[in-house]
Amino acid sequence: GPAWRRAWRMAASAVPAARPDPRGRPGLRAALAEHMRRSRGVSCTPDAVVVTRGIGNGLDLLAATVLRPGDRVGVEDPGWARARTALLARGMTPVPCPVDEHGLVVDALPADLRMVYTTPSHQYPLGGVLPVPRRQALLAWARRAGALVVEDDYDGEFRYDVAPLPALFDLDPETVVHLGTTSKILSSDVGVGWLVARPELAAAVARRRVDLADRTAAVSQEAVRLLLERGDLVRHVRRMRAEYARRRAVVTEELAGLPLVGDTAGLHLVVSLPPGRAERVAAEAARHGVLLDDLERHHAGPVRFSGLVIGYGAVAGRAELRAACALVRRLVADELLADDPAADAERAAGEPAVA
Ligand SMILES: Cc1ncc(COP(=O)(O)O)c(C=O)c1O
Repeated sequence: GPAWRRAWRMAASAVPAARPDPRGRPGLRAALAEHMRRSRGVSCTPDAVVVTRGIGNGLDLLAATVLRPGDRVGVEDPGWARARTALLARGMTPVPCPVDEHGLVVDALPADLRMVYTTPSHQYPLGGVLPVPRRQALLAWARRAGALVVEDDYDGEFRYDVAPLPALFDLDPETVVHLGTTSKILSSDVGVGWLVARPELAAAVARRRVDLADRTAAVSQEAVRLLLERGDLVRHVRRMRAEYARRRAVVTEELAGLPLVGDTAGLHLVVSLPPGRAERVAAEAARHGVLLDDLERHHAGPVRFSGLVIGYGAVAGRAELRAACALVRRLVADELLADDPAADAERAAGEPAVA
């Protein structure tokens, strides 16, 4: 919209700094600290903030700063494959850590991890919101183990009928590094995210970043600062949240009766299916132009959850979403009936094969 164009036009006329601050532009760091306070209840000062290009970049910089090759890092499983890839690329040993419908299973964490990567506000991809007692147990575990907790808050803005839970960082800023991004609220093309850590650690990440010749483009930083300072970003998120809540209602309505998991936050939810079924449904849906994701492929260890990941952030509109959900419902019903002898008999007798 106009606010977006105005921000980029104004940002383009900013004078580049002769010696850019590796922590990011001071105005943006101040705006982000304020944004974190208002939107996520996180209290932090600008010297706790490093502007990154996104969560992937933040995780990479953190690993390059605090870890050594071979260090064992816990990664949720199923989980975000790119976290694993980033750690592997730095020579770390990612250790798959089980999750359930509420998020990371803290009791199952091994004691020898140096760091654990987690998505507490909306587990990716299962969709659980980590309950407060588990948050506290996780932090107690980390303090005992001397490990850092990395909080990936990729879609923490999108909560609908659940109360916002305190960010891990706010519960223990010594132990937690919080990573945020504009990828879900604007676009991953913007290339701006943030890392929030205790100030000495933030400064160490910024120093390491200079060695790695890694930086965030000044124009993008300026545009995000303007969108934040003028309240445009908050208004945009508010509109999106309302729209995504309506989309989520369409999905839960159209798929009512199917076993849905993770429907209280975020931009996707999961339809549980017996093992091995999602791939065929996704392939058939793709032939009709509907893209679905197979939950099994998000596992690094043995497959523990099966089903379809249904994203509703990127569809054009609610009518299209409704039609896509109707298709999913039909394909899932066909798939589940396919080798059910009773259903075959019913169909042979002329019964309609719908769920
Ligand atoms: C779990 C998770 N974390 C982070 C991101 C965003 O990462 P980035 O900020 O690097 O684009 C995504 C989205 O692609 C995601 O699904």
